[in-house]
Amino acid sequence: MNEKIVNPYYDRLPGSYLFSTIAKKIKEYQGTHANADIIRLGIGDVTTPIIPAAIEAMHKAVDEMACKNTFRGYGPEQGYDFLREAIIRGEYTPRGVEMDPDDVFVSDGSKCDVANIQELFAADVKIAIPDPVYPVYLDSNVMAGRTGFMQEDGHFSEVTYLASTAENNFQPELPKNPVQLIYLCSPNNPTGTVLSRETLQKFVDYANETGALILFDGAYNCYIQDESLPHSIYEIPGARNCAIEFRSFSKTAGFTGVRCAYTIVPHELGKLRSMWNRRQCTKFNGVNYVVQRAAESIYTPVGWEQTKAVIKGYMDTAAMIRSELTAAGYTVFGGEHAPYIWWKLENGEKSFDFFDRLLGTCEVVGTPGSGFGPCGEGYFRLTAFGDHEQTKVALKRIKEKL
Ligand code: MLT
Repeated sequence: MNEKIVNPYYDRLPGSYLFSTIAKKIKEYQGTHANADIIRLGIGDVTTPIIPAAIEAMHKAVDEMACKNTFRGYGPEQGYDFLREAIIRGEYTPRGVEMDPDDVFVSDGSKCDVANIQELFAADVKIAIPDPVYPVYLDSNVMAGRTGFMQEDGHFSEVTYLASTAENNFQPELPKNPVQLIYLCSPNNPTGTVLSRETLQKFVDYANETGALILFDGAYNCYIQDESLPHSIYEIPGARNCAIEFRSFSKTAGFTGVRCAYTIVPHELGKLRSMWNRRQCTKFNGVNYVVQRAAESIYTPVGWEQTKAVIKGYMDTAAMIRSELTAAGYTVFGGEHAPYIWWKLENGEKSFDFFDRLLGTCEVVGTPGSGFGPCGEGYFRLTAFGDHEQTKVALKRIKEKL
């Protein structure tokens, strides 16, 4: 094969995607421990079945597909109006945010959207990303050639990092260098902490003053327990002129396997909105009808009650992890408005070393903090999406064996 035809930037990526690395390590462990009883609190994958209202909606939609009068072929690339309108009614109107259904673009996942959106931007735009954060923002920009090379300290030379650490109460400072794209994630994956209204206003004002664009990932917003905290960037005055928001049904409604999400590109962003529409029409044929009916159903009164109960279940698990680890003398963050617990390691232990030690002594899997950025070194993420009883067993092992 002619090496000259391949995208050279892939060589700048770390060996494999974070969660693939973890999966490989688990497989290796299982290879040498045939009777391993591993409890997985690593990747944030849901474990509670889809709510009855959504299952019912899917069955009904499947039946429609079997009948000539109600069968559907290609749907609108942007999503059916019934779902776009339900999203606005269920998510934005209750928080005082007005939204035009045309600004809602339904998709098959926020991971894809947050990576695909880069196609709208020039190759040489400068980016700022929180550190630590969901690795897709960085990796996808490395692939696009925007990041320069990785330095010895783990940072890429052309990226501005926004440290989000216990020292600054997980509220990052504004970028020190001029940037045109700013990624924000709240509640933050992996720290499980939330950006305050003041912090978001600071970033929105900065973006409007400098012409930067904010890419706001709100995939975990439904876990925010304090109603006074911002759930959407559009609750912040001025945000419609400078921000795109990504939301997902994966963590809200257990759709990690079902696949449905949406991205908001407000009319105020003018050309970017029509470019995203053009991109989606060209490269995407919409989310399947059955899935969109399931997503719609979570906004019915009964669907919302069932959804809230599932969220509460995960948050009960988060509270249990927090309190058990705290009682055992560990320092933890997050877990109050998000299903992730950010565990501070002791005695300068490296997060990948701790991964191996936790797996070896307790057969519990988590995610090493350094996989989310250099500021994540010395931390470890546990997910509250695991089965509650299994998580209880994991905590017992940690208390007894670690
Ligand atoms: C995570 O564990 O960080 C998430 O499950 C990954 C994702 O949402 O893609």
